[in-house]
Amino acid sequence: MSATTSSERRTTTLDLRQKKERGLPITWLTAYDYPTALAIDRAGLDGILVGDSLGMVVLGYATTLPVTMDEMIHHCKAVARGAHRAFLVGDMPFLSYQVSPAEAVRNAGRFLQEGGMDAVKLEGGETILPALRAILAAGIPVMGHLGLTPQSIHQLGGYRMQGKTAAAARRLIDDALLLERSGCFSIVLESIPARLADLVSRRLAIPTIGIGAGAGCDGQVLVTHDLLGLFDRFTPKFAKKYADLRGEMARAFSQYREDVERRSFPAAEHTAEMPDAEWQTLLDDLGESGAATRGS
Ligand code: KIV
Repeated sequence: MSATTSSERRTTTLDLRQKKERGLPITWLTAYDYPTALAIDRAGLDGILVGDSLGMVVLGYATTLPVTMDEMIHHCKAVARGAHRAFLVGDMPFLSYQVSPAEAVRNAGRFLQEGGMDAVKLEGGETILPALRAILAAGIPVMGHLGLTPQSIHQLGGYRMQGKTAAAARRLIDDALLLERSGCFSIVLESIPARLADLVSRRLAIPTIGIGAGAGCDGQVLVTHDLLGLFDRFTPKFAKKYADLRGEMARAFSQYREDVERRSFPAAEHTAEMPDAEWQTLLDDLGESGAATRGS
């Protein structure tokens, strides 16, 4: 079997594992809607995460905490309609897996059954073990998420790098090994020191996907709105901006407003007409023969 994922079929967890074994970087982005999923899929990326970053970059919440299961499922469905090759992961939102293992399984199941996802992602290490075990026992693949876990933002005291002390780094390594032993197929490492991410990646057989964790991870993920320059509040230091779509949108919207105000849009090429004979018959019917129309 080829180590590069086939363009004819859906990428699997096995493909991702094989990429790691062969030292091939795994490519991942977030998406929340159909056109973005379609474009990412066509660009040949390995995976798409419908992240709960949705709450901040699409829905305008201050944090990811208000995001609901229904909001996640709505956007997962749109992404699943657009992506036919990339492996699809749905992010379990705050309180969808922390209350009880039974609720966690029911919610994780919705991502596959209703949302069209292939797997789910959960934030945390040892503390999420009961939920993780229950979801895996139901046959649902799970991606872990360690380091900066935005659902614990108030506990962490802000969006700050994690694992900077030897003790914190040791806890993160132990959590990563525990997630692997428990059955996660991959782990996102967010905002941790590069050498720690590199060490974790070498100690694990499952692939690590880094965001703000340096080049030593087995793959990389970015929030697509950061990459495209679409998020208005901030661009994290670790994100590379590949486009300025917010600037492009502002330019296009202003140009459109000016065109409409100057009546230069719609022009002849954007306009359809009925045949002259039909028009004349209508005017005769209405007794309006010879009346001028606006713009004529
Ligand atoms: O919600 C999200 O987009 C994420 C990524 C930052 C990994 O969890």
